[in-house]
Amino acid sequence: MSTATFPEETRARLEVDAKEIIGRYPRQRSALLPLLHLVQSEEGFVSAKGIAFCADQLGLTTAEVTAVATFYTMYKRRPTGDFHVGVCTNTLCAVMGGDEIFAALKDHLGVGNDETTEDGRVSLEHIECNAACDFAPVVMVNWEFFDNQTPESAKRLVDDLRLGRDVAPTRGPDRLCTWKEASRVLAGFSDGRGAEGTQAGEPSLTGLRLARERGWTAPDPDRLPVGDDPEGGAA
Ligand code: FES
Repeated sequence: MSTATFPEETRARLEVDAKEIIGRYPRQRSALLPLLHLVQSEEGFVSAKGIAFCADQLGLTTAEVTAVATFYTMYKRRPTGDFHVGVCTNTLCAVMGGDEIFAALKDHLGVGNDETTEDGRVSLEHIECNAACDFAPVVMVNWEFFDNQTPESAKRLVDDLRLGRDVAPTRGPDRLCTWKEASRVLAGFSDGRGAEGTQAGEPSLTGLRLARERGWTAPDPDRLPVGDDPEGGAA
């Protein structure tokens, strides 16, 4: 066992949650991703204590757990603010203004990429495509969508977050939860708010409506020509 450990009370509480998570999988090591979210929900990041806890619960080495925790960017290795602000700077959002938004927030907050404001409220990160290109440029706060942003609206957003005002995403729940609370949901413990608010925006629904009007359906994968097989093999 690693020497980095949670205090006894914390560990006992996390073990109850870990047992529930592990019980959802046929092989216990499959529970590593939600377990990493669980320890992140405790401290706001995946610390050496969190790594050791996951390894102990799953019968893995700390090197194995560290390899996974450092591969996925949703796991943070140093303290993260109450609100993780991700600015999409992937191709479509970038050309629609994402680069300007990111530059404006860096300047406004006085932090660089993957850094946190001194008050511990906001962490800034440029992120890759979040499959919301029809709402570009997109900003995400604790993985909730803020669509069609501008440098000015994004600055207002982070100001509101730092001042503790209630902020609602464009789609999703009626108000934001904290980074730690979001991590607990990602660990598999629902906060019961998954059905709140707008689920799909009009741009996304337009394609569906057009397809229905025109009788379009997805192609039958068994009849795709060679080279178009979605599994990547020969038809
Ligand atoms: S490029 Fe930003 S959501 Fe897809």
